[in-house]
Amino acid sequence: MKAQSRTCVIGDPISHSRSPIIHGYWLRQHELAGSYEKCHVTAEGLSAFCERLREGEYVGANVTIPHKHAIIAHLDEVDQTATSAGAVNTIWRDGGRIFGTNTDIIGFLDNLDHNCPGWDHAAGTALVLGAGGAARGILTGLRQRGFERILVANRTFANARALVATRGGEAIPWSDIPQALKKATVLVNTTSLGMNGHNPLEIDFSAARSDLVVNDIVYVPIKTRLLEAASHRGLRCADGLGMLLHQAAPGFEKWFGVRPQVTEELRALIVADIEGHR
Ligand code: ATR
Repeated sequence: MKAQSRTCVIGDPISHSRSPIIHGYWLRQHELAGSYEKCHVTAEGLSAFCERLREGEYVGANVTIPHKHAIIAHLDEVDQTATSAGAVNTIWRDGGRIFGTNTDIIGFLDNLDHNCPGWDHAAGTALVLGAGGAARGILTGLRQRGFERILVANRTFANARALVATRGGEAIPWSDIPQALKKATVLVNTTSLGMNGHNPLEIDFSAARSDLVVNDIVYVPIKTRLLEAASHRGLRCADGLGMLLHQAAPGFEKWFGVRPQVTEELRALIVADIEGHR
C-alpha cells in the first residue's frame, strides 16, 4: 500500500453513511496508514471529483445514492458485473485511469454463505420481492448459484415483468406470494417495505417450507418485521446489515491490498451506531 492512501464515499446526501465506520475499523485492525472520509459530491460535482481521483488525490471511493448510475459516464472502464447491474458502487485508480465495479452481488451472496451456510444447496425456487435496482443484482446472484426457478413479485406487476424480460425469472402477482411461499427455498425482500418510516412487510410464514431461508436487504431497523416473523417460525435468516458489511470488503481489498473480515466486533459497532440514531 502507498504510505497515505486516501479513500472516501461520495453521495448526496452523505451524512448518514456508515461506510467510514466499516473501513475505519479495518484500517485500524490492519494497522494501515490510509484514510476513508465522507465526501459530499453533487451530480454537478461528479466530473470534478473523478478528475481529482485521476490526478491521485484518492486511490479509490465508494459511490452511493444518487450517483450509482450517473458515475458510469465519468469512468474509464466499467466491468461486466457493474454494466449488467447498471450501477457502480466501487471505483479505483490504476495508472491514471479510473475503474468501476459493483460489489452488491458479492455482498448479497457472501452474507448468505456466512450466515446461512448451504442456503443454495437445493438451488430450488427463489422468491424475490421487488423489482427495482436492488432486485436486478440479486437476480443475477441467484442465477449464478443455479436457482432453477426465480419468482419475482412486485407491487406494480408491469415492473416485475419488465425486470424478468431482461434478467430472466418469472413475474407473479403480489397476491400470489402466499402460494409461492409453499415451494420457495429462499425469500429475499428488496423493497423498501420494513425500512424505518415505511410500512412493514407483513408475510405469513405458516405455510412456508421449514428449510426456507429469509433475507431482508433493509438494515434500518436491523431486525425488520419480516425477519422477526421468520425467526418466530424458526426459519434461518440473514439481515441487510450483513450484506452492507460484506459488500464493503472487496473495495477495501482493491484499495489497500488486504481482504478484510466481517467480524462480530465490526457488526457490533454498526449496530450501536444504528441503534444510537433511533
Ligand atoms: P432500489 O433501487 O433500492 O431497489 P427502487 O428502484 O426505488 O429502489 O425500488 C423500490 C422497490 O420497492 C420497487 O420494487 C417498489 O415497487 P414498485 O415497482 O411498485 O414501485 C417497491 N416498493 C416501494 N414501496 C412499496 C410498497 N409500499 N409496497 C410494495 N412495494 C413497494
